[in-house]
Amino acid sequence: MSTRVPLLAGNWKMYGTAPEAAALVGDLLALIGDVPDRDILIAPPFTALTSIAERIAGSRLLLAAQNLHWETQGAFTGEISASMLVAAGCTHVIVGHSERRQLFGDTDATVARKTRAALQGRLTPIVCVGETLAEREAGTTMDVVRRQLTIALADLSPDSVAATIIAYEPVWAIGTGRVATPEQAQEVHSEIRALISALAGPAVAAGVRILYGGSVKPDNVDALLRQPDLDGALVGGASLKATDFARIVRFTS
Ligand code: 13P
Repeated sequence: MSTRVPLLAGNWKMYGTAPEAAALVGDLLALIGDVPDRDILIAPPFTALTSIAERIAGSRLLLAAQNLHWETQGAFTGEISASMLVAAGCTHVIVGHSERRQLFGDTDATVARKTRAALQGRLTPIVCVGETLAEREAGTTMDVVRRQLTIALADLSPDSVAATIIAYEPVWAIGTGRVATPEQAQEVHSEIRALISALAGPAVAAGVRILYGGSVKPDNVDALLRQPDLDGALVGGASLKATDFARIVRFTS
């Protein structure tokens, strides 16, 4: 029996002004503010972080940003540092989401720098990996995931790996309604855990949480999270509707 506490995370992407985000968080607090035995996290846009941090203080909700820069400060127009996110009330940050990799030039190398910057800045990185449809069809899923993860975690101490959360998000399942089957997800998750074991040892691997992301909905979350190596979900679209996200948080396995 795993001792890993399930984590249900909502990635709001570029949806929601600060007032809209406040309304959504109010609904979430009413619906899931007191759910025990699981961790709940939301990742709103930067402009809503400070006001939401005040709103969720003392509740069970955790706060993440969706991206960060690897430097601590400097002439980097439009970027944001780990210390700025911590000051805004974040405890976590999403790193290397496939939208950042595909649309905004994040590479394995910059994802590694961001992961390190998050850890050094006392933020828990949620490192995203996942293959495209072409890569899956070519049979290279595990090569891609292994490469992404090996570079992201290169040279990290076992303690740092233990302080990291992994999210497996097959690109073909993101925003498409085409969810990985529980078996497809489990196959990759167990390989990821084996890789972490090789990189940081079996004790670290046994404790690291590996989230699944990609079209997670109220009607598929239970079956997905019944798999032994799925420790939670990183949810996009369905995290923007309070009742849907509440149902996902209340998954039963
Ligand atoms: P969807 O749940 O909308 O497929 O998005 C998944 C995702 O990208 C979470 O980070």
